[in-house]
Amino acid sequence: MHRALLAEVDALRARHHGRAPRVLDVGGGSGAWAVPLARLGCAVTVVDNSPNALAALHRRAREAGVDGLVDAVQGDVDALADVAPVGGADLVLGHGLLEVVDDAGAAVDALARAAAPGSAVSVLVAGRYAAVLARTLSGRLAEARALLTDPHGRFGPDDALRRRLDATGLRALLEGGGLRVELLQGDGVLDAWVPGSVRDGGPAAARSVAELEALAAAAAPLREVAARLHALARLP
Ligand SMILES: C[S@@+](CC[C@H](N)C(=O)[O-])C[C@H]1O[C@@H](n2cnc3c(N)ncnc32)[C@H](O)[C@@H]1O
Repeated sequence: MHRALLAEVDALRARHHGRAPRVLDVGGGSGAWAVPLARLGCAVTVVDNSPNALAALHRRAREAGVDGLVDAVQGDVDALADVAPVGGADLVLGHGLLEVVDDAGAAVDALARAAAPGSAVSVLVAGRYAAVLARTLSGRLAEARALLTDPHGRFGPDDALRRRLDATGLRALLEGGGLRVELLQGDGVLDAWVPGSVRDGGPAAARSVAELEALAAAAAPLREVAARLHALARLP
């Protein structure tokens, strides 16, 4: 996933002859993606409806020395055009957003409208089947069953998420917003299954896990059981 975003930023730099790529990070929270992208030289606007998240973003950007490249705007994806110009972004992020908003279709429409023609929209969303497996393994079978059968992939009324998606559902959602899906991969496919004894095995073990994870992310059957699904889709 990092590799895909890096490649996109590199391509933008080449296309715009070195001008800082304009990134719009909707639901960007405290800057887990915005700050690293600013460190790569992107001009990032974060739109988030939480003042607390934006305060944390300010701190993080300052500490990283990139506060001049990060603009924090309080706003809602439902009214994105009020705070972000239509067609104004070279790259739009909606990570961890589609599973928490009321209307995921309207959110995708808003992300697509904010993208300049030919630009990419990157979304990261909670995967349905990883949640089924996790509940099954911990013996919470009623919740596993609900996650599998509920139309929105929720385990019940106490679920903090409004939906979880599978690859087919995510593709349909993005295409419904007029976007062309270029990449659909898993994020966190095998991480959860690696035993602690292996994970704690130092840099070589970490490298092996990362390499395995990168291969698994692109394997369609494994992608379906990833904790999160990542898609890069483009506005024609
Ligand atoms: C799970 S966090 C993801 C943060 C970040 N994108 C990341 O990947 O680490 C979801 C973020 O979306 C924001 N959010 C939720 N609903 C929103 C909405 N309707 N409009 C804008 N932001 C929203 C929340 O405040 C929160 O910061």
